[in-house]
Amino acid sequence: MCRDGHILTNFIASQSVHEQYGGVVPELASRAHMQNIVPVVDTALKQAKVSLSEISAVAFTQAPGLIGALLVGAQFAKSLSLALNVPLIAVHHMQAHVLANLIPDNKPDFPFLCLTVSGGHTQIVLCESPLQLTIIGQTIDDAAGEAFDKSAKLLGLPYPGGPLIDKYAQLGNPKRFVFAEPQIPGLDFSFSGVKTSILYFLQAETKKNPHFIEENLADLCASVQERIISILLSKLKKAAVQTGIKNICIAGGVSANSGLRRALQETGLQQGWQVFIPAFEYCTDNAAMIAITGYYKLLAKQTTSLAVGASAKSDW
Ligand code: KG4
Ligand code: ZN
Repeated sequence: MCRDGHILTNFIASQSVHEQYGGVVPELASRAHMQNIVPVVDTALKQAKVSLSEISAVAFTQAPGLIGALLVGAQFAKSLSLALNVPLIAVHHMQAHVLANLIPDNKPDFPFLCLTVSGGHTQIVLCESPLQLTIIGQTIDDAAGEAFDKSAKLLGLPYPGGPLIDKYAQLGNPKRFVFAEPQIPGLDFSFSGVKTSILYFLQAETKKNPHFIEENLADLCASVQERIISILLSKLKKAAVQTGIKNICIAGGVSANSGLRRALQETGLQQGWQVFIPAFEYCTDNAAMIAITGYYKLLAKQTTSLAVGASAKSDW
């Protein structure tokens, strides 16, 4: 929830029900959304000390994602906007990740580049104004978050493995093992080769020593993380050179990765960039990024008809 572009509360409900299944189960996600949505809105109003009559617009995530979960949010937002007689604002999840960079007082000047790295997307976005966002590079296969999670699975770690790789990597040697670096032209990314390279390497090593993974877990995590980060940063450097832009932001769940945050700061110093990294709570999926995007869309009078539906697809 936000007032005049300042976040009042970022209350969210996380769903731990999926952990035992090794991934998100769509039906369980929709059901949990239905159970959580009214209590979450109530708590957010209480935390922000705002009454329903003070709400001037309702923003919701319209796309992309799991359709059942999106529909729950869309129907609730439409009902609330109708009941309160205030504008409805449809927000694109990936645009909202980018605009999380506009939450702090220390905001990047436009134009800036944003590396958006989440469980489903990996994009370099050229941002010319809050609502003028252009994707100039993206993954042609797996997303960076998927690369973390799938590598973690190969290492026997539970879902979502990204934060665990981060944790173990802090104790390991990132130069110990070297995994394949994809050769993709332009500003696009590819991560599927990294996953395959890790798979074949682990198969060969565990044949020789069945305890190879547990004996080398920290070094394996550090080396996997090192490769994913090097792929991300080499394209980001290329994008900065091509566009001449030195204001560099990061967004999405993977931007919570401590190695990536550190490497981005170091690369920024080398390249003369001004680097902006959102607080952890605004990197992974959060409510504040939807509120701030709703705020900018309301300022631009980009409101949405009640006839709008939700969409699983990611076009924007
Ligand atoms: O943006 P997000 O919260 O949800 C999506 O929109 O996908 O991103 C989730 C992704 C997952 O793949 C998760 O493993 C990854 O972000 N992630 C991390 C870290 N925290 C979350 N990956 C590496 N290191 C982390 N610390
Ligand atoms: Zn996300």
